[in-house]
Amino acid sequence: MDGPSGSGKSSASRGVAKALGLRYLDTGAMYRAMTWWMLRHGVDLADSDAIAVRAVEPEIVSGTDPEGPTIHVDGVDVASPIREAEVTASVSVVAAVPEVRSRLVALQREIIGAGDIVVEGRDIGTVVAPDATLKVYLTASAEARARRRHAELAGTTVEAQQAAMATRDRLDSTRRADPLSMAAGAVELDTTALNLEEVIAEVLRLVEERRGPAAKSGEPRRGRDHTYERT
Ligand code: DC
Repeated sequence: MDGPSGSGKSSASRGVAKALGLRYLDTGAMYRAMTWWMLRHGVDLADSDAIAVRAVEPEIVSGTDPEGPTIHVDGVDVASPIREAEVTASVSVVAAVPEVRSRLVALQREIIGAGDIVVEGRDIGTVVAPDATLKVYLTASAEARARRRHAELAGTTVEAQQAAMATRDRLDSTRRADPLSMAAGAVELDTTALNLEEVIAEVLRLVEERRGPAAKSGEPRRGRDHTYERT
């Protein structure tokens, strides 16, 4: 599952993994963990060569139980600090460095192994797992995404949140290395008017469809499942 921040990826991915008894991997948490480590070690984030050289150092370990995913860096539990403002403000810069991406993509592929996992990020369908059984690209209006993030975070306004997210989205979508984009064969799901249960139900329906006898893997789906409206 790929998509911009606030599109509902995390809750939906975890919900789908729980419903199907699959593992779950949050790749954004890995980029955040790498960023946390760089900040902790005083790496100058304006110097992409410095980031590239040090990207091999941190040992990042992701736990894949959807009931309680975990993330450790060099043995330290960083689940909470990687969500803080300092990391959030810097992660797009670190995630744009090709050496960071190649290291984390290799780690992600190791974790994914033979499959049976729901993976969320920005480049899962395009780069990390282009042969995934189902690729979903979640979207939502900028306002809906800002509202959702605002509800999760204290001490900010919806407008400030929308501006910060727009900056991060622009960096994530325009970087040279593996920018956020919809994969070939992905199903686009607009979650603006949907609640979490509805998003999960729709993804489960798509899984069922792929598993069914009429499933044709790899067939482009863009445009068909474009918009979902509450009835
Ligand atoms: O999903 P998130 O907001 O926790 O992701 C944090 C950042 O990591 C996001 O700004 C873009 C980057 N990211 C990425 O470049 N590739 C991924 N597969 C996942 C996240």
